[in-house]
This record gives sequence, structure tokens and C-alpha cells, in this order.
Amino acid sequence: MLEFFMKIAITGKGGVGKTTLSSIISYLYAKEGRKVLAVDADPDANLAQAFGLREEQISSIRPISEMKDLIAERTGARPGSMGGIFKLNPKVDDIPEEFGYRLDGITLLVMGKSKEAASGCYCPENVFLRRLLSHLVVERDEVVVVDMEAGIEHLTRGTAQGVDAFIVVVEPGQRSIQTAHQVSEMAEGLGVKKVYVVANKIHTPEDREFIEKALNDMELLGTISFRAEIMQADISGKPPYEVSPETVKEVTHIKSRLDELVK
Ligand SMILES: Nc1ncnc2c1ncn2[C@@H]1O[C@H](COP(=O)(O)OP(=O)(O)O)[C@@H](O)[C@H]1O
Ligand SMILES: [Mg+2]
Repeated sequence: MLEFFMKIAITGKGGVGKTTLSSIISYLYAKEGRKVLAVDADPDANLAQAFGLREEQISSIRPISEMKDLIAERTGARPGSMGGIFKLNPKVDDIPEEFGYRLDGITLLVMGKSKEAASGCYCPENVFLRRLLSHLVVERDEVVVVDMEAGIEHLTRGTAQGVDAFIVVVEPGQRSIQTAHQVSEMAEGLGVKKVYVVANKIHTPEDREFIEKALNDMELLGTISFRAEIMQADISGKPPYEVSPETVKEVTHIKSRLDELVK
């Protein structure tokens, strides 16, 4: 197979459907025979649920941020320690193979919550997680889908510029669109050229029109309809791609446009 890299970062306000879209896009690339690395970089992690993992499987996954011994070994300093000397370029390239959870064609990596990273401080845990994310986005020869939190301000310029496509998910409503505009501005500040929008939870043609108007010059990649089966899947713990062929079709469309735009 020809080598194929694609680095996608999915962001947007909480609850708009980032994790739903991340899981379906990952599934579609894997179905195509691509090697896929799905990265849960949202501190409020739930990508494992969207892949349909059971409770005991989910609890067996240790988020990277909790691997204090590993971080200490790789950086040469204990997480939580301050002011000491540590490596700024710790080895991370074996992390997906070592600690990723293998699903059908997809490796899932859960970054976890980081108190240190949240504080923005310059400390071992923060350096390690940043270095890992940068490696995943910039250096991997595979499809990488990052399920992110609302903002992108914690990304370094290098990582942000390594992303082929930022996708901001919005829903009909002012608040998620405001988040999209903020992401777009931050992206510009980071030197990122292209930010795309996916409109989710669309009920009516008016919803789509509302979003198109409100986006101004941001580019709408495609839309995903609101479907009761998708909500139901979240309740029953099933993957969204198993319950709604219509939704998979809509996301297939979005993926094709993305492949077209990024190649
Ligand atoms: N197209 C849709 N139709 C119906 N419900 C949806 C749709 N997309 C997402 N949802 C539901 O909205 C909730 C939030 O989705 P999720 O993907 O977890 O959002 P996020 O990751 O942005 O917080 C979930 O319960 C999910 O099932
Ligand atoms: Mg989520």
C-alpha cells in the first residue's frame, strides 16, 4: 500500500460531537486499510466509549499522564518536581506501540488529565505530554486523529503546523460558533492556514443556513444530521458507526472532501 499520512485534530465546544466524529473518521480510515492512531487528548476523555469498549476494558487503559515512573525515567525527573534538570527531548516514539490499546485496525492512546499541563508550567509531565503530542502529529507515518478539547491554545506552533486539518465541530447555536471563531483566530496566531468546520446535530435546512451565515469566511466541510440512534448509542455504549449507516455516509462524504483538500 502507498504510504499515506493524515493528521487530523478535532476540536470544538463541549458536547458538539467531537468524540462521535473522531470515532467515525478513525473507523473509516481503518476500514480503508490505513494504520490509524486515535488519540484522546481531551482531559474529559471518552473516546474509548465511542469505540464501544466495555467498562472493564476502559478501566484497563492507563492514561499516559498517570505514568509517573515512565515520565520520570524518560525525562530524568519526577512529575511534580520543580526546578530540577530534565531532558527537553525525551524518547516517546515507542509509546503508541507500548501503551496504545489495540482495536480493529486502530490503536487508541489516552493522554489523560494533567494538572501540570493545565497550569502551563514548565515541568517534566508537561514537557513529556507536549513532546508526545508533537511526535504523534509531526513524525508518525500513519493516520492520526486527535480528539481534542475546546481550545488549541496549549499547542506549540510546531505541533499546530504539523496538523493537516483542524476540524471545528459546531452545532446550531451561537455558542459553538463563537468557539469556532476563537479557534480560527488562535490557529492564525499559530501559523495554521486551514481550519475547517463540520456542522453536527442538524435537524432542518434552516439549521444549515443559520450555520453557513454565521461562519462568515470559515469553510464548511460538511454536515451531520441529528439522529436519535447516535444519542441512543451513547446510552447503550455502542460505537456510533455501528448504529447509523446514514451518519457513516455523511461522515464518508466529509472524509472524501478532506482527502481531496489535503492531498
Ligand atoms: N448527530 C448526532 N445526533 C444525535 N446525537 C448526537 C450527534 N452527535 C453527537 N451526539 C450526542 O451528543 C453527545 C455529545 O457528543 P460527543 O461526541 O461526546 O461530544 P464532544 O466530544 O464534543 O463532547 C453524545 O451523547 C452524542 O451521542
Ligand atoms: Mg469528547
